[in-house]
Amino acid sequence: MVSLEGKVAIVTGGYKGIGSVFATALSKLGSDVVVAARNAPACESFCKNLKDAYHTNPMAQYVDVSSKDSAKALVDSVVKRYGRIDILVNAAGVSGVQKPTIELDEKEFDEVFDIDFKGTLFCSQEAAKVMINHKSGKIINIASILGKGNLEELESTVVYLATAPALLTGAEIVVDGAQTVI
Ligand SMILES: NC(=O)c1ccc[n+]([C@@H]2O[C@H](COP(=O)([O-])OP(=O)(O)OC[C@H]3O[C@@H](n4cnc5c(N)ncnc54)[C@H](OP(=O)(O)O)[C@@H]3O)[C@@H](O)[C@H]2O)c1
Repeated sequence: MVSLEGKVAIVTGGYKGIGSVFATALSKLGSDVVVAARNAPACESFCKNLKDAYHTNPMAQYVDVSSKDSAKALVDSVVKRYGRIDILVNAAGVSGVQKPTIELDEKEFDEVFDIDFKGTLFCSQEAAKVMINHKSGKIINIASILGKGNLEELESTVVYLATAPALLTGAEIVVDGAQTVI
């Protein structure tokens, strides 16, 4: 089995849903996982479970990924504690209200776009700076199968449908030596 012992992984939205699956799997492989979201007590409690189950050194950290400053503060605190970032999983996200597009107001649009798309971008930008310095790192973005098409039978708001392909095509950051491809 692959070992991630000695590696540090940030999982945004890591205490529930898809993020929690990544946080658990990475811990199981030996990685120290930083569980980051707005609900700090939930992150703390999830980290305690990871520590008890896998004897790793997880860390809970508040982040609002829609804020560039908050994404930077997350990365700074991880570097301060561990000195490295090997993996970033951008799992924080929201689906937004399910309503006809014609009724969608700007605030509702902005919430999904700011968290799903800009949140992924901000965290990736900040983590990639550290990875580039170390000439190593992996970034995993969680989008949606909706981004691949076949939308006819699915009901969703236009903003969710817009961010999914954007994440799949526009926000892939590959850290390859000192080169970043966006
Ligand atoms: N579940 C599915 O079937 C599915 C399928 C395809 C794609 N996806 C996508 O995968 C992502 C995760 O889905 P999920 O089902 O795992 O959702 P979930 O169970 O609702 O979990 C979302 C996580 O994101 C965090 N989050 C939300 N807004 C945040 C913010 N501004 N800053 C930091 N963390 C934030 C939440 O924590 P806080 O609220 O405490 O911040 C929570 O931990 C979403 O983008 C979703 O669209 C999900």
